[in-house]
Amino acid sequence: MSKLKLWEGRFSKSTSQIFDLFNASIMTDIKLFEYDILGSTAHVKMLAKCNIILEDEAKLIIDALYQILEDFKSGKIKYEISDEDVHMLIEKELIKRIGEVGKKVHTARSRNDQVVLDERLFCREKNLHLQELIKMLINTIVNLAEENIDVIMPGFTHLQKAQPILFSHYILAYAQMLKRDLLRLRQNYSITNLSPLGSAALAGTTFDIDRFFVANELGFESVTENSIDTVSERDFVLDMLFSLAMIQMHLSRLAEDFIIFNTDEFKFIELDDSFCSGSSIMPQKKNPDALELIRGKTGRVYANLIGLLTVLKGLPLSYNKDLQEDKEFLFDSIETVEMSLVIINEILKTLKVNKENMAISCKSGFINATDLADYLVTKGVAFRDAHFIVGNIVKYCIESSKTLEDLSLEEYKRFCEKIREDVYQYIKIETCVNRRKSYGGTSLESVKRQIDNLKKFLKSL
Ligand code: ARG
Repeated sequence: MSKLKLWEGRFSKSTSQIFDLFNASIMTDIKLFEYDILGSTAHVKMLAKCNIILEDEAKLIIDALYQILEDFKSGKIKYEISDEDVHMLIEKELIKRIGEVGKKVHTARSRNDQVVLDERLFCREKNLHLQELIKMLINTIVNLAEENIDVIMPGFTHLQKAQPILFSHYILAYAQMLKRDLLRLRQNYSITNLSPLGSAALAGTTFDIDRFFVANELGFESVTENSIDTVSERDFVLDMLFSLAMIQMHLSRLAEDFIIFNTDEFKFIELDDSFCSGSSIMPQKKNPDALELIRGKTGRVYANLIGLLTVLKGLPLSYNKDLQEDKEFLFDSIETVEMSLVIINEILKTLKVNKENMAISCKSGFINATDLADYLVTKGVAFRDAHFIVGNIVKYCIESSKTLEDLSLEEYKRFCEKIREDVYQYIKIETCVNRRKSYGGTSLESVKRQIDNLKKFLKSL
């Protein structure tokens, strides 16, 4: 049988130890310690301001709370499973230190609104941190693009060579995804930034409290509107989990691209040794483990989102203990995505871009075939006919092991008599790239504009 609890008044015997272990969330929500102290401090100030407790009592409680936080930070506070959760641990510690007065901290409050408060404070801070990490990564991508501004590579569709593109344009695609991720986090922030405190167990409180005072103390934009909704919902956690899933998905695609580009077959990039591992049996191996883990960990980040959605499905209003499960999902996704962002940033900063291999790769695969068709259009052939003619030319090249550049004018004329000497200039890889001046296209001019816009975006934040 376990130790006595703060809520044991109604109980005639202790809970079973195995249940205590099952019921406890302290191993997880200990991460909310600082936020819980912050919330309690604001709550107690409000209680005194509203004459629910005395000023002196509030001072005593607040001083003790700060002291408890200091002790926690220096590792002096140890928890036991019987403490159940972080809220009970701190309240127990408070009562241990200041006695009877400590018991007043929980006036006009429930753990149901308290835990939401802690989580909102936590999500708010993590949201800002994630925004910083994303900003850093966008900046790294912009630098990488600028350093390799005119490097040409084959672009792919269906993982088949398609058309020549600038490497800078390719890598900036990820900066655009991350920009949207950052904007999504900013939207989430406003939904998260509302104070739930004062909703109490589910129905509000009989005390004449001032919820707006607490909100103001804690820097919240305002307060939530419905006490039942407030203790029951975890939309702001789900928003965060979705944003994290989206970020990790983007990182996973980048990881996959780079795993492919780093292979011996491609050699478009070379990963730095510091982010690869060797094999225990094959001495020659240098494996892209960091990228594989980013790709692999996407599984758990998705699972956390689906996990919490499932916990909430069909959950009756208002608070149910099921909701306690939300924190493991949240913490795991945040830690995983934070680490992935930092690691991918380092990978991008240390990798080598193999310009020569990209250029060699551009020579095969007929990546200028669309341009040849466009050329025929400039000579008055309808695009659909031009497409057919170039298809025939490519077939001829494959059969005779030639590239489009290898064909003589005489050979070209067999397919279309309108082809002239100027075709060779038209299908040059550099010309193909720089002719794509359409807004958002791959020409040097468009990419430079894109970089300017991204820099302006980063500055505007
Ligand atoms: N540890 C709980 C949680 O994380 C706190 C709220 C508990 N409320 C309750 N009435 N048992 O959800």
